[in-house]
Amino acid sequence: MIELGVDLYDPRTYLRGLPLEAFCRLRHECPIYWQEESAILDWPAGPGYWAITRHADVDFVNRNHQLFSSNLGATQIRDPQPEDLEFQRKMMLNLDPPAHSRLRRIVSKAFTPRNVGRLEVGIRERARAAVDRVAPLGRCDFAQDLSADLPLWTLADVMGVPAEDRKLLFHWANRVIGFQDPEYAQYDEQGRPIDPRSRRALADMFAYAHALAAAKRRRPGDDILTTLLFADADGEKVTDEEFENFFFLLSVAGNETLRNAIPGGMLALLQHPAERRRLAADASLLAPAIEEMLRFVSPVMCFRRTAARDSELHGVKIRAGDKVVVYYASANHDETIFPAPERFDVGRDGADHFAFGIGPHFCLGAFLGRLEMRIFFEELLSRLPDLELDGAIERLQSNFQSGIKHMPVRFTPS
Ligand code: HEM
Repeated sequence: MIELGVDLYDPRTYLRGLPLEAFCRLRHECPIYWQEESAILDWPAGPGYWAITRHADVDFVNRNHQLFSSNLGATQIRDPQPEDLEFQRKMMLNLDPPAHSRLRRIVSKAFTPRNVGRLEVGIRERARAAVDRVAPLGRCDFAQDLSADLPLWTLADVMGVPAEDRKLLFHWANRVIGFQDPEYAQYDEQGRPIDPRSRRALADMFAYAHALAAAKRRRPGDDILTTLLFADADGEKVTDEEFENFFFLLSVAGNETLRNAIPGGMLALLQHPAERRRLAADASLLAPAIEEMLRFVSPVMCFRRTAARDSELHGVKIRAGDKVVVYYASANHDETIFPAPERFDVGRDGADHFAFGIGPHFCLGAFLGRLEMRIFFEELLSRLPDLELDGAIERLQSNFQSGIKHMPVRFTPS
């Protein structure tokens, strides 16, 4: 074991951005690294976990659910309260095949390129409206004013949530993803931090999902949630509980991720002016540039699995029950796959990145996420070509998502 000098578990580590040097050392010197989980930010200590940092090992772990399960301990680093584990284990994200495959089959019908393609016109209108709102001002908070609303609008569309309720999705996602950040964390009467991943802590959200299901049963809409409630040609539909869990998953997964990817991608362009000029001169580079943003930023830094059996990886014994955390952010900077990984290169062929994960849980919203990013940057870069930083950025305090909460920018008003 090596003396790393960086705590991968501590959410404060990521306030300075991804710990790329530490990841690099781990990939070279200790690809299966034991990370302690000490008591931090009022949270009690945990048992610790194995950090997996090489591209090939992340691939191996994710493709072997019989060895490394998403279901046994769910998929977040911190162990849930025992009374919450049962509910979490029923979410699609936290199932293993074959139970996972059944739900995924039903749900993925709504995410085919054809169905997602129908959203394109609406996405463009909203991206334009977001730029229109700030263009006359000459300055704004890129993270809050420009990039937060598009994922919310789109998600509300996809889910058939009334547009005026989209801010609810925003608050629920903040509560879940921001629980380690002082701006969003919630505390009980005894001053203990509340773990938001429970039906109790999200009672308002589950009540909303329940009422929404009842409303859609009465009046079906043209949206994914309606699709789930009614049996399709193969006779498949979800139960009420599965519906509510899926509502929870989508509210978080389709929202925070993009809201972090967009400012992260913009920051990468601002920090690499030559690459920005290259992109401005050649629109055909936008598609690879989006992939490079996803690789470089890695909005979802890691996911947790639990060892289902004893095994051995690179001579390290992993015991049944051990926590294993795959670091997508490190795999995305693995020099054996991405030469000179620290370089942001808008022309890179980065198709092998794991920003959307890999294996059975590969992101269901990948096509939609890419579409939203492409349209957003098409609108933004042509309308505000001289946009630049106007102060310090503020990152999300989280050991799970690489987020930017505030990013002041200025540009010539138009
Ligand atoms: C840039 C944007 C996005 C990023 C970086 C991202 C990232 C990820 C990652 C890494 C996973 C894998 C989880 C694992 O390894 O266990 C995942 C799964 C998932 N994502 Fe995304 N995501 C994005 C956008 C979206 C959008 C827009 C939606 C839907 C509207 C979405 C819905 C989902 C769902 C439902 C899953 C679970 C799939 C399963 O369990 O089979 N994501 N996402």
